[in-house]
Amino acid sequence: MRGEVPPRGFVKKKSQGPYGTEGLCRSRVASIVSQGLEPLPSCVFDLDILLNERIVDLTRVMQALSNFSEFSGRVLRLSNTILAGSSEFAPNVEDAVILLGPCLFHAVVLLCGVTEVGANIFRDENAEAIWLHSVQMAILSEQIAEQAGYPSRGAACVAGLLHDIGYLPLLVAAREEGSLLNGPGAFEWWDDVPREREIFGVDHCQIGEWMAKSWKFSPSLIDAVSHHHDPLKAKQNAALAEIVCTAERHCPAPFRQEPAKRARMSRNSLALLRPRGKFAEA
Ligand SMILES: [Fe+2]
Ligand SMILES: [Fe+2]
Repeated sequence: MRGEVPPRGFVKKKSQGPYGTEGLCRSRVASIVSQGLEPLPSCVFDLDILLNERIVDLTRVMQALSNFSEFSGRVLRLSNTILAGSSEFAPNVEDAVILLGPCLFHAVVLLCGVTEVGANIFRDENAEAIWLHSVQMAILSEQIAEQAGYPSRGAACVAGLLHDIGYLPLLVAAREEGSLLNGPGAFEWWDDVPREREIFGVDHCQIGEWMAKSWKFSPSLIDAVSHHHDPLKAKQNAALAEIVCTAERHCPAPFRQEPAKRARMSRNSLALLRPRGKFAEA
């Protein structure tokens, strides 16, 4: 993954803005880009196949995770964050798969995979930060795809789930510079593409495109990540980018919403996705 072409539009110059932190955030994003991304854990690809099966084999799911203890720990922590919405708790990964169901657990695995960016200490926080919006977008994108007669509801669901991966390096930079609590990194840039460019030298669509290409996502998914704010510029699959763009208009970033509404959204996602999918009989 190292030596990939930098994100389109990336400007390395020091910020001219009034905040010193902006310059620090730019430098940190630049260093993430120059270091390159770690490969996705290989179990993510195996689990993506296993959890897409019509009847899911729980034993094979557990086998796929068996050599990935650190990643399994992250999956379990995000699972429990989600389960906390319904006052449930999974003491281990197997229980988490059963309690969440194959579909929701699949989304957790993909989200934990793409949040393997930057320092380990921030990965769980970043997964939590983007989880609720991502899963809401997955649900909504799938519903729009169905109504629009788009041929692959599954592809729309994954595109909705992963569309904002570009926020992850920005979150890493903002957290490392300690600017999420105060100053220009205090989330005021989220969903404000020009402001992101001012602070970080790049916006979440540009860096998301770089990530999606680095991880060799499908051309359609690269389009959805890169162009969900400007679908007419999509090169391979404008329809999918348009679906995600439409979903985005109805799904504001969760931190802008009241805690009570966030909790309700979280419970709704759980109720909607948990019953999906089936395990093979033991
Ligand atoms: Fe979004
Ligand atoms: Fe976005």
